[in-house]
Amino acid sequence: MANNRHEIVEKNVGLLAILIVIAISFGALVEITPLLYQDQTTEPVENLRPYTALEMEGRDIYIREGCNVCHSQMVRPFRSETERYGHYSVAGESVWEHPFLWGSKRTGPDLARVGDRYSDDWHRVHLRDPRAVVPESNMPGFPWLEENVLDGKLTSDKLAVFRDIFGVPYTEEQVANAGEEVKGKTEMDAIIAYLQSLGHAMK
Ligand code: HEC
Repeated sequence: MANNRHEIVEKNVGLLAILIVIAISFGALVEITPLLYQDQTTEPVENLRPYTALEMEGRDIYIREGCNVCHSQMVRPFRSETERYGHYSVAGESVWEHPFLWGSKRTGPDLARVGDRYSDDWHRVHLRDPRAVVPESNMPGFPWLEENVLDGKLTSDKLAVFRDIFGVPYTEEQVANAGEEVKGKTEMDAIIAYLQSLGHAMK
């Protein structure tokens, strides 16, 4: 009995607790230490570019209209998904997303790679009245997007926040010109520009 040393540990709760803490701490060290030596836990993928001013406005409208309530933006690493949507989503595509819109509710299809899949005109018709192009669709129409015109008053500030707080590499020029770039465009133009940009880095 006495030479079964494992039994000593099993019968001594105090000792067992101490050894458990040591074992877990070692695991934590292995996981955490490397993070202290990395500038960013996830590097942007090679072709990632920040959203243009118009795409940025489109993204805000996408959130305002609750598109992300029915659409996820994350292709999972399963064959059934990659055959339908393309390459599975990787973390490096989302480093400049604040907040990210991955989601898990899919009333409609995943949109992570919808960019370039349809023409701008298709989106225009579809967003105005989804049943005009997909008869069985239960997606609501968003006809007001065509009437609402952007004034661009806050666009520079938005880009500046992304640059200064989240570290998105916008140039001084991009921030300064952002308002002018979107002024007079409709919300429809903005949201279509945003949709067409989705997945651009991994085409
Ligand atoms: C009530 C749920 C719902 C909401 C809200 C919704 N959609 Fe959809 N969406 C769907 C469904 C269902 C489909 C599939 C049928 C179709 O193509 O219309 C779809 C399809 C799409 C497609 C085509 C995707 C593909 O790969 O064929 C796009 C693009 C799209 N939606 C964009 C949007 C945008 C942008 C918004 C917000 C302005 C939005 N959706 C809001 C349910 C929704």
